[in-house]
Amino acid sequence: MNFKKAPIVYLQGKPVLLFDKQANLLEALEDKEIDIFSECRNGFCGSCKTKVISGTVEYTNEPLAVLEEDECLPCCCSPSSDLDLDLTSDIDTNVLGEYIKK
Ligand code: FES
Repeated sequence: MNFKKAPIVYLQGKPVLLFDKQANLLEALEDKEIDIFSECRNGFCGSCKTKVISGTVEYTNEPLAVLEEDECLPCCCSPSSDLDLDLTSDIDTNVLGEYIKK
């Protein structure tokens, strides 16, 4: 039998969640109270665009927003490997190391 390991999602190298049965990456991050600005939540507007440091994502439907090679749209993708995201421009950590929105 061949089991596929659930991808781990990191933020700037810190593990924050195991992507298992969540609908998409945006919902998985929001479940952990990590806010990412979003509007259409459907791959059209590009407002949730996020930089990928390492790892890969897969889209259920090809997004219409234009992306650089190192960017993803969390609202309509899932990690297909362990994934490290760079949210440094949108969030910070408090003294307890919890992620907070700036
Ligand atoms: S929220 Fe519009 S592309 Fe993700």
